[in-house]
Amino acid sequence: MKIAVMKERRADERRVAATPETVKKFVGLGVDIVVEAGAGGAAHIADSEFQEAGAVIAADAAAALDGADVVLKVRRPIMDDEDEGPNELAQLRKGQALVAMLNPLIRRSDCDAYAAAGIDAYAMELMPRISRAQSMDVLSSQANLAGYKAVLDATEEYDRALPMMMTAAGTIAPAKIFVMGAGVAGLQAIATARRLGAVVSATDVRPVAKEQVQSLGAKFVMVEDEETAEAETAAGYAKEMSEEYQKKQAALIAETISKQDIVICTALIPGRAAPTLVDEAMVASMRPGSVIVDLAVENGGNCTLSKMGEVVETNGVKIIGHSNFPARLAVDASNLYARNLFNFLSPHIDGENGNLSFDFEDETVSGVCLTRDGAIIHPMLSEKES
Ligand code: NAI
Repeated sequence: MKIAVMKERRADERRVAATPETVKKFVGLGVDIVVEAGAGGAAHIADSEFQEAGAVIAADAAAALDGADVVLKVRRPIMDDEDEGPNELAQLRKGQALVAMLNPLIRRSDCDAYAAAGIDAYAMELMPRISRAQSMDVLSSQANLAGYKAVLDATEEYDRALPMMMTAAGTIAPAKIFVMGAGVAGLQAIATARRLGAVVSATDVRPVAKEQVQSLGAKFVMVEDEETAEAETAAGYAKEMSEEYQKKQAALIAETISKQDIVICTALIPGRAAPTLVDEAMVASMRPGSVIVDLAVENGGNCTLSKMGEVVETNGVKIIGHSNFPARLAVDASNLYARNLFNFLSPHIDGENGNLSFDFEDETVSGVCLTRDGAIIHPMLSEKES
């Protein structure tokens, strides 16, 4: 069995889907690994390190893909409707398995293209949130780093210190940081902000988040009503809230936000646009020098003024909308992502001969497999069709 590790071609992508550590482990299972030249460059992994771990280096994408059974990538292949480079899907061959973050619920038409091309596509973001799959959970591994980096990015634009400092020249007040959405990214943002000495508060629509927020030493604020009792899906995700709830929540946010120095937005709803939580008037209520970081910008943003890939300033308030926060910590993000992929694939590799045979009875496989033998098979995709 041959696995190809591809170089990412999107401008903001610095991660890589394998590391020398995971290459060595795959090779130990009898798998042949081919790494496209330069694949690890932006994450500071030289081709020679992959080679020393047992990989063969291919000069280009076509050579890496030649004869590969499994293709490992970080991001979904570039398609014709995007201007980030040549169509990457066109380079794949019928029967190859593609394992990556494919964003299938938003990029539904990509799934038709995988099926039409006879590619067996596995979208790692759909990994079920069960204990056994925690080590394969790419959303968690990447969101955790994104939450951390969001706070550091905020400090860079914030022209003040975060902790309280009592100096001979007087006292510096601690920064007030408000984290919206207390999932994996939000909780790490809270922990990071606390470590840096800020006074932190947070909000969510899932009441269970309260204890988690408080255990990190932050204050929890939320609109709690009969709707929030049902705000969490069986999978632990948030639902889209009613208009009435959104109005009540907006009033609470408006009141809270005007007193904040830094706001970190992390609220997401799987398969939908991110909820709008911070509007123009709320931004205008913040004092000049405040900073908003919108981690949700790639899904439409939690703040109406954020722009993807930009830091915009309005009335002295800076709004950070970097795309791809995890890639801003490319080394750690690659290490964790590569381990997630190894942990996903290795139980299905026969250590005697290195062959891969997915067990479709296993929900870590059926939960992420989008297409198989030319057909779309994932229940979430068929549901969307109806
Ligand atoms: P996410 O990235 O989908 O969303 C981020 C946060 O935004 C969530 O906490 C969500 O409740 C919140 N949110 C959504 N709409 C909102 C709104 N209108 N206002 C305020 N907040 C809003 O969530 P993430 O980080 O993926 O976590 C989802 C759940 O999965 C959590 O319950 C988490 O504890 C759980 N989880 C379970 C794992 C496991 O068991 N293996 C692993 C990782 C997470």
